[in-house]
Parts: sequence; structure tokens; C-alpha cells
Amino acid sequence: MGRLPRADYLRGVQNNNGGSGLIMLRRIVASSGWSTSLRAVARGIAGILLASLCAALLAACSSEPDVPKPPVYVSSCEPCHGNGGGGAPVTGDKEEWAMRLAKGREAVYLLAITGFEAPLDDEGRTAVMPAKGARNDLSDDEIKALVDYMIEVSQ
Ligand code: HEC
Repeated sequence: MGRLPRADYLRGVQNNNGGSGLIMLRRIVASSGWSTSLRAVARGIAGILLASLCAALLAACSSEPDVPKPPVYVSSCEPCHGNGGGGAPVTGDKEEWAMRLAKGREAVYLLAITGFEAPLDDEGRTAVMPAKGARNDLSDDEIKALVDYMIEVSQ
């Protein structure tokens, strides 16, 4: 089985929009020694397509809406609010945020700006939200925008 002449190969590939191109490609593939490797490639592509389909479905079904994550949130808030470390309300946890929002959105903003702490457990530990998440270089409005993001993906 020799290599396919390049022109034949290109014709087979490039003719691919009318439908007959595909048949031609198959015929070329069948007559060449490439059959097995092309099939392997096709299987690989099918696998990738399946994987992206699964990822897309998962994304569509997940509870977090498709709101872009602000980079400052990722660097300065997510370390605590991504996993609830130290008693931080987890971004995306609807119940937790509904509870905190019950006192009003302005009060939530204020606590994020001033920082606060509250008892965490019976062993005397406390949960500490540092003022502005320890980002004193950010303006109040920037903090509010971050809180808005956290609330938006938690409803
Ligand atoms: C060192 C960990 C830590 C970092 C970093 C952090 N937080 Fe927090 N945050 C907490 C903890 C802990 C609480 C809960 C404290 C409690 O309930 O006593 C909290 C609570 C909050 C709340 C809820 C306020 C309320 O009304 O209950 C908001 C809003 C908030 N943080 C916003 C932010 C923002 C915005 C950032 C990033 C700029 C940030 N946090 C960074 C630990 C952190």
C-alpha cells in the first residue's frame, strides 16, 4: 500500500461540501493504507466531540448562571468564598445568601466594606471577613460590584 498522491488526497478532502466528496474520501481512504490510522483519528475526534457535548450539557444544567467571573473576585474573594473556608458564605449557595440578604442588600455591602466577625462554632472560633476582603486599595463601589457578582450567581 503506497502513499496516496497528494492531489487525490486534497481533492477528497476539499470536495467535502457536496456530499459526494465524503464518498470519494471514503473510497480514497479504503484504497489506501491510511484506513486504520484515519479511523483512529476519527474515533479521537468523536471522543472529543462527545466530551465537549457533555461539558456543554453540564454547564447548561449547573445552577450558576453564565455570568463572567471578575478577575479581582478570583484573586481576592474566591480563596475564601469559593469553598467556605473559615465560615465564609460560599458563592452560589442560594440558601446561605438568601439568609444573609434578609437584612437588606445595603447591609450586606456595608459588612463587606467594614469587615466583621461572628462566632463560628461552640469551640470559641470566629469567622472573620476582613474589611474589603483585605483589599483596601479597592473603592467602596468596586467592593459593591464584587458583592453584586456574588449575589447574582447565588440566586
Ligand atoms: C480571608 C477570607 C475571606 C476573604 C479573602 C474574603 N472574605 Fe468575605 N467573608 C469571609 C467570611 C469568613 C465571612 C462570613 C463572616 C461571618 O459570617 O461571620 C464573609 C462574608 C462576606 C459577605 C457576607 C456579608 C453578610 O452580610 O453576611 C460578603 C458580601 C463578603 N464576604 C464579600 C467579600 C468580598 C467582595 C471579598 C473580596 C474582595 C471577600 N469577601 C473576601 C471571609 C473572606
